[in-house]
Amino acid sequence: MNEVARPLSGRVALVTGASSGIGEATAMALAEAGAAVAVGARRRDRLEGLARKLTDSGTRVLTLDLDVTDEAACRDAVARTRAELGGLDVLVNNAGVMLLGTLVGADTEDWRRMVDTNVMGLMYMTHAAIDGMLEQGSGDVVNISSTAGRTARAGAGVYNASKWAVNAFSESLRQEVTARGVRISLVEPGAVETELRSHITQPEAKAAALAHAESMRSLQPDDVARAILYVVTQPPHVAVNEVLVRPTDQER
Ligand SMILES: NC(=O)c1ccc[n+]([C@@H]2O[C@H](COP(=O)([O-])OP(=O)(O)OC[C@H]3O[C@@H](n4cnc5c(N)ncnc54)[C@H](OP(=O)(O)O)[C@@H]3O)[C@@H](O)[C@H]2O)c1
Repeated sequence: MNEVARPLSGRVALVTGASSGIGEATAMALAEAGAAVAVGARRRDRLEGLARKLTDSGTRVLTLDLDVTDEAACRDAVARTRAELGGLDVLVNNAGVMLLGTLVGADTEDWRRMVDTNVMGLMYMTHAAIDGMLEQGSGDVVNISSTAGRTARAGAGVYNASKWAVNAFSESLRQEVTARGVRISLVEPGAVETELRSHITQPEAKAAALAHAESMRSLQPDDVARAILYVVTQPPHVAVNEVLVRPTDQER
């Protein structure tokens, strides 16, 4: 493929939560567009399978044992990416959990996991990456939020709160750094066919979430990966601040 067809040639991307779903599809899309890719998550076996596929297609890959709730691990992931792949141009903060359920009677461990992963993890990764991007005067931070960051509903309170926090953090940071060449973007998918719902611990909430997803033609992970690719392949003067992408059948 020539350089025009590979707009990310010479750039380095780091994708969190790359062991499945949207993160895995995004790593593949960025690699196909020419980027070297660091892929982070906790399930090393899954990352190694992805890394083999990417390496076979000629991509430079780094696998990172990464639990984003561990700030030191986030710093290490960014440092290793810079050291081993030669830089960091695109950070996709995708790692997340959606442990839906009523607030009344909830297991508060679910709340800690959502806030620690979806909010603190995303902020640790951003903090670790941002100084280097500001020094080089360019970079993309793509934060994966959700329609749940726009529409609150009963049974999703803490997931809603975590994604609302992602939106507020992203907009604040965007204003802080945009004039220095670093773009902060928010991608907000509706229902995507991934394993996200399978980790819900409240049985009624899990059944309702699965039924909701099955009631429509959901997005596929690659549909979201294409939106992310669109964001990070704009010319330097164009910042796509926000992409809301729902299944056609999804009303809210
Ligand atoms: N699916 C949807 O309908 C939907 C809609 C809107 C937004 N989203 C958002 O999209 C993102 C990706 O979700 P998905 O749908 O692709 O679900 P998924 O297939 O379950 O992927 C979640 C990813 O996050 C990783 N992860 C979870 N906890 C982590 C931690 N502590 N440290 C590092 N990685 C962690 C998982 O890897 P390990 O378990 O291997 O660590 C996995 O790779 C999430 O932020 C989610 O909120 C999803």
